[in-house]
Amino acid sequence: MSSLESAVVSVQRVSKRFGGFSAVSDVSFDVEPGTIVGVLGRNGAGKSTLVSMLAGLSAPTAGVVRVLGNDPRQARTRRSLGVVPQDVALPGNLTGNEMAQFVSAHFSGGLASGQDYRDVFRSWDLEGFCSKRIKNLSGGQRRRIAVGLAFVGNPSLVVLDEPTTGLDPEARRTMWNQIKTAVEKGMTVVITSHYLDEIEYLSDRILLLEKGELIEDRPIEDFLSMKRNAVVAFSSSAAKAQVTALADGDMEVTAAEGSFKIRTSDSDGFVRDLVESGLQFEGLRVSGWSLEEVLLERLEQ
Ligand SMILES: Nc1ncnc2c1ncn2[C@@H]1O[C@H](COP(=O)(O)OP(=O)(O)OP(=O)(O)O)[C@@H](O)[C@H]1O
Ligand SMILES: [Mg+2]
Repeated sequence: MSSLESAVVSVQRVSKRFGGFSAVSDVSFDVEPGTIVGVLGRNGAGKSTLVSMLAGLSAPTAGVVRVLGNDPRQARTRRSLGVVPQDVALPGNLTGNEMAQFVSAHFSGGLASGQDYRDVFRSWDLEGFCSKRIKNLSGGQRRRIAVGLAFVGNPSLVVLDEPTTGLDPEARRTMWNQIKTAVEKGMTVVITSHYLDEIEYLSDRILLLEKGELIEDRPIEDFLSMKRNAVVAFSSSAAKAQVTALADGDMEVTAAEGSFKIRTSDSDGFVRDLVESGLQFEGLRVSGWSLEEVLLERLEQ
């Protein structure tokens, strides 16, 4: 079976140009069923442009996007797709419940299949405000309804563009748990976010975009193993060669004006050797790497 048939999403050499500007350039990847793929990158990197093509909201200028083997712009494909754009405008005069009935009726996994949107709203903790008109909801409540609605029709693929922006911590946690639960039941999710704790918690794979190009496509484990590195920092009048002599070959030593930084997966061992060496030092700090540091370093390369 080709990747085009087995993958929920298949993106092949896709580009999107706006006039002379290339927002997405020659991007290819597949998304396997039952996984969560996190799309990361700086403001303007091309995340929304990319995911809007997966969601069938815009067409590529070049290349091919397939969702469940079909063009995501076709109505029948859209019936298996839940989408939350970065900027979503729901009709203000309707309530969340009315919207859910409307959405549910249009999805193959919705009303007709016996799925009750009220179950979704209950487990997503939306019941407290789903009977109010959308125009009278707070920004966070509106966002939560929009995301809940994407799951109401029990779609095969959900595309979420910064779903938790503006949510309080408890609402974010509830959302994370519900996304995980949906994926455990077989749903596939593509999510963008600037919250790296969210991406770390949710994603099986990370795509990193920079200036429209896909510069990383790796399992989350690869990033987490980089995270296990720690940085040992201290000040010393010692020469760089003396400090380097203490470090194993796989440790990276940087020195600037008496400030040393050693990146290592064995910070305990290095600190022990430093103390035993008798070199004078002060201001010793040991810090772990965050996903943010791993990604920032990758973007700086
Ligand atoms: N309709 C458009 N016409 C012209 N340029 C556009 C259009 N839509 C997006 N762009 C440009 O394409 C680039 C990518 O935009 P995009 O919205 O995909 O970024 P993003 O990665 O989602 O950023 P953010 O993190 O801020 O949401 C930006 O430089 C943006 O100005
Ligand atoms: Mg965006």
